Amino acid sequence: MKKIINAAIIENLEIAKNIHRLIVSADIEAHAGQFVQLKLPSNDFTLRRPLGIASIDNGQLKMFYRVVGRGTEFLSTLKAGDEVNLIAPLGNSFNIAASERILLVGGGMGLAPLLFAAIESKSADILMGGRNSEEVNCWKNEFQGKANNIFIATDDGSVGTYGFVTDLLPSVLDSASYDKILVCGPEIMMRKTAQLAKERGIKCQVSLEKRMACGLGACLSCSIDTIHGRRKVCKDGSVFDAEEVFYN
Ligand code: FES
Repeated sequence: MKKIINAAIIENLEIAKNIHRLIVSADIEAHAGQFVQLKLPSNDFTLRRPLGIASIDNGQLKMFYRVVGRGTEFLSTLKAGDEVNLIAPLGNSFNIAASERILLVGGGMGLAPLLFAAIESKSADILMGGRNSEEVNCWKNEFQGKANNIFIATDDGSVGTYGFVTDLLPSVLDSASYDKILVCGPEIMMRKTAQLAKERGIKCQVSLEKRMACGLGACLSCSIDTIHGRRKVCKDGSVFDAEEVFYN
């Protein structure tokens, strides 16, 4: 059930250039695909920002963010013991059955909800992409012991395969019989993955990343077109069946 809580920071650590791992104390229940709306402890920042939940364990809620502007810059200065205000958990979640063999496909901050999916699935493989070895290695460390197999593609070829995750995807799909693909990352990556999943008859769910104002279904800033008409990513998603949203 959704709560509004003041959450004390346990860790706020830069794990790769401009990528931070944020762990706060929060007594909530959540599932992979759900997110929080975080309010910074400063009147200079009135809008909340959405962060995907990467895990929740023993009252410790883990998230990740990239420093991209004034708000995340300020967030990066907060120390253990400082408090942030959260509305959590929000949105729906991935459909994960224990019997299914799942391939997770993601890049950038989209890897955060997929980390939670790896933990819930207990038998998922991950295909991850990133700019370079520094960025990908920090995620690889997070997925170690949580995903069965880790496949990597980087933009500069410094680790794993040179290129995009979608370049590597066909050979990964050839290597095993997957029941479902869960995707989160740049839209072009999700769209191409959804297309390939459809061609191969594999179920595919996508977690969409959208700019959000309220995060509560009230402002329409996150509306998208689907085969069922307009839907709000914050309330009807962020997880959708790929064919619902990538239909044209
Ligand atoms: Fe306001 Fe989704 S962010 S309706």
